[in-house]
Amino acid sequence: MKIIIKKDYDAMGKEAAKYFAEVIRNKPNAVLGLATGSTPISTYKELIRLHEEESLDFSQVITFNLDEYLGLTDDHDQSYRYFMDINLFNHVNIKKGNTNVLSGVTDNPETECREFEEKIKTAGGINIQLLGVGGNGHIAFNEPGSPENSRTRVVDLTKETIKDNSRFFEKVENVPTQALSMGMGTILEAKKIVIIVNKESKAKAVAASIEGPATTDVPASVLQKHSDVIWVIDKGAASLLKDSS
Ligand code: F6R
Repeated sequence: MKIIIKKDYDAMGKEAAKYFAEVIRNKPNAVLGLATGSTPISTYKELIRLHEEESLDFSQVITFNLDEYLGLTDDHDQSYRYFMDINLFNHVNIKKGNTNVLSGVTDNPETECREFEEKIKTAGGINIQLLGVGGNGHIAFNEPGSPENSRTRVVDLTKETIKDNSRFFEKVENVPTQALSMGMGTILEAKKIVIIVNKESKAKAVAASIEGPATTDVPASVLQKHSDVIWVIDKGAASLLKDSS
C-alpha cells in the first residue's frame, strides 16, 4: 500500500483527484467507483476544476456509487444521489444515464443490489474506486464484521455510524437505520483503490487499518490484501501512525 500524507483537506483532495484524472485521460470510458460524505468534497471540487480549466472529459465516463440510504428518495437532500448531483455530476459533462446510484426506495432491494452488481460486470469492472473511512473503520456501509466476500446488499447501520451521520440530519431519529451498500468483495475487485481520510478523529481507524492486522473487525484493514491501494490522508488522520515517513 502506498501512503501519501498531505498538509490539509484541500491538498488531500487535489492529490486524490490526480489519480482519477490520470485514469480518465488514459481511458476516456473509464468506470469510476465514487463515495459520498464530507471527505470527498475537495476531491470532487478539484475534478470539477480539472474539467473546467484543463478539459478533463467525462462524456464517456461511467460511475457507480458505493451506497445509498434505504428509504430516501433521489431528491431528498441527504440522499447520496442528491449529494452526487450537487457536488459533482451537475458540474461536469457526464451523461446522467452513465451514473449509477442504488435506489433507496426500490420495492425490491435484493433485485436492485443484484442488478447493480451485474451492471458493474457489464461495464467491465471498476477501474478506480474512491473510498472514505468511518470512525469505526467501515468502508462504504460495510460495518465491522462484514464478510470479505460480501456483495452489494441491504445492511444495518451501527449506532456509531448513525450517530456520526446525524450531523447531516435535523435529529438523530431522522437518520435511516439501513442502507444498500457495495460489499467488501465488490470493492476489493476494483482495479485501483484511492482511500481518502482527513481529521484527527479518524486517526485511530487509520492506524488500525494500515498498521494493525487485516481483519474484518476493521473493514478498511482488509484493503491490505489488495495489490493497488493508495491512502491519501491529511496530517491529522496520520497522527497516530508509528511510521509516517
Ligand atoms: C459514503 C461511504 C462512507 C463514508 C464514511 C466517512 O459513500 O461509503 O463509508 O466514506 O462514512 O464519511 P465522512 O466522509 O462523512 O466522514
